[in-house]
Amino acid sequence: MYKTLKPLLFKIDPETAHHLAEVTLSTARRCPLFFNWMTNRYFIDNPKLHQRIWGLDFINPVGTAGGFDKNGKMIQALPSLGFGWGELGAVTPRPQTGNEKPRVWRHIEEEALQNAFGFNNDGVVVIANRLNKIYPFVLPLAMNIGKNKTTPDEEAINDYKILVERLKDKIDFFVVNVSSPNTPNLRKLLNEEFIGGLFKELKTITQKPILIKLSPDMDLDLAVNVAKIAVQNGANGVVATNTTVDYSLVKNPQNRGGISGKVLKEKSYKMFVAIAKELFGKTTLISVGGIDSAEEAYKRIKAGASLIQLFTAFIYNGPELIKEINEGILELMEKDGYHHISEAIGVDIQNIKIPNKFAQLLTGDIDLKKLLKDKNVQKNIKKEILKNILNEIVVSLIPHHGSKDNWDSEIINYLGNCVFWVASGEHRRYKHPSRKVFKEIKSREGRYVVWVNKRYKFILRNEIKWHYEDIS
Ligand SMILES: Cc1cc2nc3c(=O)[nH]c(=O)nc-3n(C[C@H](O)[C@H](O)[C@H](O)COP(=O)(O)O)c2cc1C
Repeated sequence: MYKTLKPLLFKIDPETAHHLAEVTLSTARRCPLFFNWMTNRYFIDNPKLHQRIWGLDFINPVGTAGGFDKNGKMIQALPSLGFGWGELGAVTPRPQTGNEKPRVWRHIEEEALQNAFGFNNDGVVVIANRLNKIYPFVLPLAMNIGKNKTTPDEEAINDYKILVERLKDKIDFFVVNVSSPNTPNLRKLLNEEFIGGLFKELKTITQKPILIKLSPDMDLDLAVNVAKIAVQNGANGVVATNTTVDYSLVKNPQNRGGISGKVLKEKSYKMFVAIAKELFGKTTLISVGGIDSAEEAYKRIKAGASLIQLFTAFIYNGPELIKEINEGILELMEKDGYHHISEAIGVDIQNIKIPNKFAQLLTGDIDLKKLLKDKNVQKNIKKEILKNILNEIVVSLIPHHGSKDNWDSEIINYLGNCVFWVASGEHRRYKHPSRKVFKEIKSREGRYVVWVNKRYKFILRNEIKWHYEDIS
């Protein structure tokens, strides 16, 4: 369908085409049959791709990138386009018209876009009202937040505080945008001092996850440092990357704005890997920039991305691509012998090799009793523990002789993309999980080994309850 529409859309200027798509998709919500038909066609819902991150359920890992739905007018269309989650915005405290037009260009040969929008948006009051009618949505929603052009740098922190305050009950998580090339001096704020102070303040306003989005043009060491400082001060994840101002990447560049799409792929991947080497396992990582195929998406996942996003490739290929990417990830996982996406996340970064059997626990298609009797499994567990785990968080142990029951699903859900291990009683020497351990899990988000002992079931259940209460 998109193949038929694309030549027409590409005849009009890109901003008008995007506006047309926005009007069509926001009107189409009045026709649920159409959305249902699209959702059946494009939305991939396979338990192997389900993840619970920050207590949010991601049905598939592919999301829209910031800027795609600046004003939150297309939210209801997200599932029908195949996306498993969406990032809205960038929103600023006051409405903004953005930079002068034209401010977005196609580089068709390179399958790239160049945009100099400058945070044009309806402002937080209007967008918050719009979200009021929709939130909570069936898919996780993030909000990309930016400062107004006229706000002086010294007062920038205030803009971000206003945005988090106004939106904290209307969105699932936030992405702090100080990496857009289209607001003068914004990228100067990508320094350790500002970011540390910013996250410290923002995290006093809400417990909801707040992530930082980086620019691909940063020096790699600085990027890693800024990301680390953000995480140390409470950031719950890193999004890499925004658009680039490396105009050598396209044949006929404009002299303003940021470039996205295929040509950004390498640069964005390089930065993502640098970040992942430092932060994988310590925080949640999201990769964006030039992702245009299942292979590229899977490469980012193996490099440590729990979630991925795209914008430009969607403009060039439509919802078929989102379906292809999700299906392709499943095929590639199968080829590698993985039963759940959590097994693939970060395998190229870290050496933790998870036996398939354990990952099957996440999808629930394994008989626990049989597994526990398997001598090989027990041996593997020991070996793996010695090799990788002692320096990680190990939470108590089994034997848990029942098959999957409600409580198991509860903990599996709770753990989301953690790695879940089950073992026999010989490891009872480990202490039961304490609040401190759970707090640690919560603050570090990522891949952890969790071991559950029937004896500690009660304690764990209470801890989980406590944790749920804490994030709600
Ligand atoms: C037209 C356009 C508008 C964008 N607006 C925003 C924005 O408001 N906030 C943001 O963080 N990123 C914005 N981006 C950057 C994207 O979120 C993304 O990081 C970048 O385009 C790289 O991904 P891609 O190669 O898949 O497009 C925008 C990108 C495009 C093409």
